[in-house]
Amino acid sequence: MKTHWEARFAHRTKKIMSSVIREILKFTQQPDIISFAGGLPAPDVFPIKEFTIASSKVLDEQGPLALQYSTTEGYNPLRDWVVADMAKQGLKIERENVIFTNGSQQGLDLIGKIFLNRGDKIIVEAPTYLGALQAWNSYGVEYVQVETDENGIIPEEFEKALRYGIKLAYILPSFQNPTGKTIPQDRRQKILEIADKHGIPIIEDDPYGQLRYEGEHIPSILCMDDKFRNPGGDVYDGNVIYLSTFSKLLAPGIRLAWTIGPKEVIQKLVYAKQGTDLHTSTLIQMVAYETAKDGFLEKHIEMIKKTYSERRQVMLDSLEEHFPACTSWTKPEGGLFLWVTLPEQINAEDLLQVAIEKKVAFVPGSPFYPNDGGKNTLRLNFSVSNPDEIKEGVKRLAEAIKASL
Ligand SMILES: Cc1ncc(COP(=O)(O)O)c(C=O)c1O
Repeated sequence: MKTHWEARFAHRTKKIMSSVIREILKFTQQPDIISFAGGLPAPDVFPIKEFTIASSKVLDEQGPLALQYSTTEGYNPLRDWVVADMAKQGLKIERENVIFTNGSQQGLDLIGKIFLNRGDKIIVEAPTYLGALQAWNSYGVEYVQVETDENGIIPEEFEKALRYGIKLAYILPSFQNPTGKTIPQDRRQKILEIADKHGIPIIEDDPYGQLRYEGEHIPSILCMDDKFRNPGGDVYDGNVIYLSTFSKLLAPGIRLAWTIGPKEVIQKLVYAKQGTDLHTSTLIQMVAYETAKDGFLEKHIEMIKKTYSERRQVMLDSLEEHFPACTSWTKPEGGLFLWVTLPEQINAEDLLQVAIEKKVAFVPGSPFYPNDGGKNTLRLNFSVSNPDEIKEGVKRLAEAIKASL
């Protein structure tokens, strides 16, 4: 008898859907489409030569160890690198506060695995990162969307949302995906204090914090939490779980990221990861460490910033030149994305069909709202297309909008 698979899937599987973004990306593989849809870093900034050299060095020097099973927590020199990097930001952590994962995406999923029960409520910014929703949907959670303004999540709305019996708050304070918005320091402090008052942990997702093109650095919520509750400077044991990644600093294909948190949380994440994949690739961790160490990463980040900063400016100038006055957009100080708001009557999903006919693509905004909203919004990526493509793509998109008005 042929198995009726649909009847066999677990309840949680019913909530797992293919990402809208991935579906859209399928379209945009056509070579003549200018795609602002993906969240991809530019392939021309990948450190291919350095990876080649580092790979053979690691295999020569480490031999079979590089190809052997390894510890779930991650490669210790990399964990120590995170410890040292955080020390520069004034945060005292130890190796046991750090776990390396297969991308931050796995970090988000493992957080789901250790914390989330069916029916738990998570605060998210409206809009928020789609990948987190995908990671947590299968745990049967509900989302409480909190309104944002040009400075990100609004503290008063955040506090109101805490009435709903919240398990966790998920916040992307720097150059948010999808909007490019950044939460200023005083607002971060308010959010931190409100979360503290109500005893709500914050998941801080920060893949883009190091990609700032203008303005002053703002400390992470993690570092601010430490200052707030730990004036004695003991090893971090606060309320924030922080994720960052090499995806946008080296290359996403290496799937290498880290989570920082109180030791008891990291220990549980380690157990959860053991059951998932035993550990992150030994070889990749060693090669990434070999590539990043001795100052290469810092220089490389400077180069990436120069490239993306120019592309961002080209996109902002082109939007100014071509987009109709009834549209508006964010002006991110860093990251990979900006967010466009269209007139109410334009549905961005309909606009996408017109845009694809004109050979340009973007991601409509509504999938970034877990409950509802954003029908007349869209996300544009400015890192992956070169300046000429950006100018042409924005021109085509402006034509699509004007045709839809
Ligand atoms: C906000 C956010 N979190 C997490 C991720 C996933 O990153 P990684 O490639 O490390 O899995 C991304 C990737 O685009 C992201 O934008």
